[in-house]
Amino acid sequence: MTDLFSKFDDLIAMREGLLSTGVTDPFNLVMEKVESPTVAICNGRRTILLGTYNYMGMTFDPDVIAAGKKALDEFGSGTTGSRVLNGTYVGHRAVEDALKDFYAMDHAMVFSTGYQANLGIISTVAGKGDYVILDIDSHASIYDGCAMGNAEIVPFRHNDIEALEKRLKRVPEGAGKLVVLEGVYSMLGDIAPLKEMIAVSKANGAMVLVDEAHSMGFIGEHGRGVAEAQGVIDDVDFIIGTFSKSVGTVGGFCVSNHRKFEILRLVCRPYVYTASLPPSVVATAATSIRKLLDSKAKRDHLWENSKRLHAGLRQLGFTLGTDEPQSAIIAVIMPDLETGAAMWEALLKEGLYVNLARPPATPAGMTLLRCSLCAEHSSEQVEEILGMFAAAGRATGCT
Ligand SMILES: Cc1ncc(COP(=O)(O)O)c(C=O)c1O
Repeated sequence: MTDLFSKFDDLIAMREGLLSTGVTDPFNLVMEKVESPTVAICNGRRTILLGTYNYMGMTFDPDVIAAGKKALDEFGSGTTGSRVLNGTYVGHRAVEDALKDFYAMDHAMVFSTGYQANLGIISTVAGKGDYVILDIDSHASIYDGCAMGNAEIVPFRHNDIEALEKRLKRVPEGAGKLVVLEGVYSMLGDIAPLKEMIAVSKANGAMVLVDEAHSMGFIGEHGRGVAEAQGVIDDVDFIIGTFSKSVGTVGGFCVSNHRKFEILRLVCRPYVYTASLPPSVVATAATSIRKLLDSKAKRDHLWENSKRLHAGLRQLGFTLGTDEPQSAIIAVIMPDLETGAAMWEALLKEGLYVNLARPPATPAGMTLLRCSLCAEHSSEQVEEILGMFAAAGRATGCT
């Protein structure tokens, strides 16, 4: 019998090698108690959270929590059904209305996760014979959507406008073309030159999908994302987003002005063949999204945090993913996985949680300590974080 697990042997050996050094498993941490968007108890210790996607700190918002509790009482714990059968409650419509208002778009379709939103929209609109031209550093859910739809996948070099144009020009005449971009790339925290890329895509007859998972709520005048900040949101055919980051719960969505958009509800398999989100989740999401419409003060504070952390880490001598802060994500580049894991553990001992990211999730084989800031981090907490990085850097010889 062939051992179907033998394909994982290299990974198993790498993991065992890392753990045999005595380091705490960086991919198995348990949050014993979560006190706020920025503080949890891990290994019995108060820990500042700098590795969540809780950018706008909505998880403990009193209105959000109250809406979830009310929906739980009034509608029960789950829908036990697909959106196209018994799984559309008033709450699902209400969250889609909140999204339409938030993005000022005609249509909104909610999925059970952001992963499923990419999987569903990409696989349904780009089928066999169509071409998906995508940034090589695209999220796994984008690649999986392409594979599921059976479209031709044409990757281009990260954020390279000329490379995108070249690939577009090589697509056979008459073939369907979908360009897929992200607003913020979550590993290095850099943003895409959407203005130029969308112009090139449109000039070459492509539809454009932008995944704004890491920018919603924070970037752009109304928090609609990088396409809004760069003045090109009206040229985007599909915006994909998630409730698992700034919105502070779970779920995914697509908004669009396409006049035939609603047909997707009948033909999109990751929408049709799965249970809809629980009523409490859609109620928390709708409340959170409506509050995010009016969150300028939070957005301003989050930018301050991002600038303060970026400047401070640079001053300490760390190598960062971007020269300037471009989003709420600041990536600290580590020389290798062993040093990254040692630094991750030293930070945890100091009382700080960050994400340790490694290939294949990261570009160019990098090991990263990914810091994601929250609008609820106080300026004092950011200073405390910098002190922890200084101490951990000294302890591990990283700085
Ligand atoms: C760019 C991007 N798209 C989609 C997703 C999937 O979101 P979800 O957590 O809602 O499945 C993620 C999650 O990390 C992401 O980074």
